[in-house]
Parts: sequence; structure tokens; C-alpha cells
Amino acid sequence: MPGIPLRNGGPAARIAVIPGDGIGAEVTPQAVKVLKAVAVPAKRALEFVEFDWSADKYLREGVTLPAGAVEMLRDEFDAILFGALGDPRVPSNQHAADILLGLRFQLDLYVNARPVELLHDRLTPLRDRTEKDIRLMVFRENTEGLYVGIGGNFKKDTPDEIAIQEDMNSRKGVERIIRYAFEYARKNGLKRVCMSDKSNAMTFAHGLWQRVFKAVRQEYADVDSRHLYIDTLAMELVRDPRQFDVIVTCNLFGDIISDLGAQLAGGLGLAPSGNIHPGKTSLFEPVHGSAPNIAGKGIANPLGSVLTSAMMLEFLGWTAEAAALRVAVRAALHENYVTPDLGGEKKTTEVGDWIAARAAKIASTSS
Ligand SMILES: NC(=O)c1ccc[n+]([C@@H]2O[C@H](COP(=O)([O-])OP(=O)(O)OC[C@H]3O[C@@H](n4cnc5c(N)ncnc54)[C@H](O)[C@@H]3O)[C@@H](O)[C@H]2O)c1
Repeated sequence: MPGIPLRNGGPAARIAVIPGDGIGAEVTPQAVKVLKAVAVPAKRALEFVEFDWSADKYLREGVTLPAGAVEMLRDEFDAILFGALGDPRVPSNQHAADILLGLRFQLDLYVNARPVELLHDRLTPLRDRTEKDIRLMVFRENTEGLYVGIGGNFKKDTPDEIAIQEDMNSRKGVERIIRYAFEYARKNGLKRVCMSDKSNAMTFAHGLWQRVFKAVRQEYADVDSRHLYIDTLAMELVRDPRQFDVIVTCNLFGDIISDLGAQLAGGLGLAPSGNIHPGKTSLFEPVHGSAPNIAGKGIANPLGSVLTSAMMLEFLGWTAEAAALRVAVRAALHENYVTPDLGGEKKTTEVGDWIAARAAKIASTSS
């Protein structure tokens, strides 16, 4: 993804790998395999260090994010490749909150970049839409909003229970993600930025988004900017996705709207994302979760994780290798060498092997 400020740009990088739970532990090794395959012909040195932070470890040792982990990742690694967290044996989701939200918050990964790109016409559920119609970027604010965990329960588990969850929005937090969206649009020659909120109902929190958006857009007169309420955005994305180049929104709405976007482009199995702080150690993960319903069956789609790895390579400044991964994924889709969620019959590892071989071949001819 051009326009994302680089962490490294050199010929070597250290990657922390956190496969996590369920299908996270199945798709991530495929992405690592593909990354290794493409690094060799490109004469890049990629070092991978795996961490077993997961529901298993939490249940076994009571440990979620170990002490010192954030500083270690920040100081010793260029990027983090993450699978997914979530396990029915941990109904509180405590380990996922500590590890994933902990890393997002403590590494201050304020940009959640979620590209929505249709890579083959047959994959969209929208009638008569083609690849050229569905190509946009969702920027989700990633460190604030309803995810900060401020709130509580009063008279819990009684008929009189009250539950409160606070929506925390800072001027600094809102401004930096809106500014990032405009900068991204400008650097990539994209003409349109849409900010979405629910300021008609959430007058305090999203009133702030409105005021900041109005101020920041003045500095980007070369970019067309518009506002849509989130309900209207959901409707318009389905009605005509051609209207959008860049969408910027809050943490909760970004979470939801990017899943909608993922479905427009072939489903969760294909959707990549980056949790980014420009210039600092950042975390890359597929949009999907741990999918307990298919975990252990060997049929999880690894392409979301592979496309996530391509985003990570771009963050590292390795654009040719990132392109090789994307070309290989497109080829798999065109040859229907895919898992059952995309209508194929292949296993997770078969798709991983195929992509690794194809990407290595592409990288060796282009290096
Ligand atoms: N970033 C994360 O780690 C993350 C994100 C979302 C959900 N979760 C967690 O994951 C668990 C399951 O959540 P969920 O079921 O709502 O969402 P999910 O994304 O895990 O699964 C939703 C649906 O999509 C399918 N799916 C997802 N990824 C796929 C893939 N790669 N290949 C084929 N099919 C795929 C699943 O089989 C399921 O039917 C929960 O514990 C949740 O909290 C974690």
C-alpha cells in the first residue's frame, strides 16, 4: 500500500509472529512460508521470531501479554505479523483484550488500514459490479472510542442491572486519523475522502469529529471531502461502492464497515489489515477472527493473511515483493486454486504452498 510511512526500508527486517488461536494458528504459518519464499530471490533477510501468546497459554499459565512484551516488540522488531485471538474456552475474551487491544493501545497504533479491493469479479455478491468498481481504503481510528474499556456494571446479574460503556474521543486522536486519511489520499492521487460518524445522535463525541473534520479539510482543498452518517454510508457502500476512495471513521464504525467492505470483495477470508503508527513498529493481521467453527479442519483461507503480509512488506519499503504476493493471490483466484469459502476444494496448506511457489517465481523474474 503506497503512501504508508516506512519503518525500515533496508534489506533486512525482524518480524515478531503471533499466530494466536483457532485459524490464526493455521493461516499465519502459510503467510510466513510465502514471505520466506519471496525473500530468497529478492535477497532480503527476514528474521521471524514466534510468540505463543494465545488462549492455550492463558489457560495453562494465566499469562496474556507478558511483562516487558510491549517494550521488547517496540525496540527489537520492525513489524508484527498477527493471526487472530478468540477461543470459546475464554468467554471473557480477556487474553484477546490484553494482547490485541493492549498492543494497539500501548504501541499507539492509531491507524487501522483496511483496504477493500475486489480481486476477481465473481467474488462480489453485488450484481453487475466488477473489479474496477470496488477499490477503496477504510481508515479506522484504532486507539480510542468505545474500545477503551471505560465503563462498568451496576447491580450486575440482577433485574435492575445497568451497564455503561464510555465513548472516548480526544481531539488529538480524531485529528491525526483524519489527517492521515487526507495525506494518504493525496499521496496516492485519490480524489475523494469520506468521513463518517453519527453526530446527529452522538452530539458530543461525534460533534468533535465534525468540528475537526471541517477544520482539517480546509488544508486539503485538492481532495474532494464529504461527510455521511454511518447508516447512510452502509447503505451507499452497497448501493454504489464506486463513490468511495478513502473512508475515515471511528473505532467501532470502522470495525463494522470494514466487515461490510470485506463481504463486497469476497469475504473475510480475503481481507487484510494493518495497525500502524507511521515510522514505528506496527502490527499486521487479517481482518477475520479465530473462526472456531472451522478451526482444525484445515480449510481456512490463508489469502487474507498473505495479503496482510503484502501490506507489511510495503510498510517495510519492499514494494516489489509486496507486488509479487498480490500477483500470486490474483493468480490463485483466477485459477480457482482456493479454499471452500471461495468455492474451491483446496486445503489451507495447499493454497499456501501454491502461493509460495508462484510468488517466489514472480520475485525471481523481477529481481
Ligand atoms: N482480530 C482478531 O483477533 C479478531 C477479529 C474478529 C473476531 N475475533 C474473535 O474470533 C472469534 C470468532 O469470531 P467470529 O466468528 O465473530 O468471526 P470470524 O471472523 O472468526 O468468523 C466469521 C465467519 O467467517 C468465516 N471465516 C473467517 N475467516 C475465515 C477464513 N480465513 N477462511 C474461511 N472462513 C473464514 C468463519 O468460518 C465464520 O463463519 C471470537 O472469539 C472473536 O472475538 C478476533
